[in-house]
Amino acid sequence: MYVCVCKAVSHKHIHRAVNEGAVSLRDLKNLTGLGTCCGKCVPDARRTLVEAAARRAAEQPLFNDAGLVAA
Ligand code: FES
Repeated sequence: MYVCVCKAVSHKHIHRAVNEGAVSLRDLKNLTGLGTCCGKCVPDARRTLVEAAARRAAEQPLFNDAGLVAA
């Protein structure tokens, strides 16, 4: 389902951008163009960004064989 109709950006695109390193709404705007036309998508984009970042953090291991990966 589209989050940003103007730029055809879906939830999937946002999750992918977060997995590739996007950490802010500005990053999402730069990577996808969302929110740069009418701006109606910004609240939903922000919610999706938080959700995607939380999912990514939960999936990342804290430790590997070499020790601590992330704090
Ligand atoms: S819906 Fe995203 S800029 Fe219009």
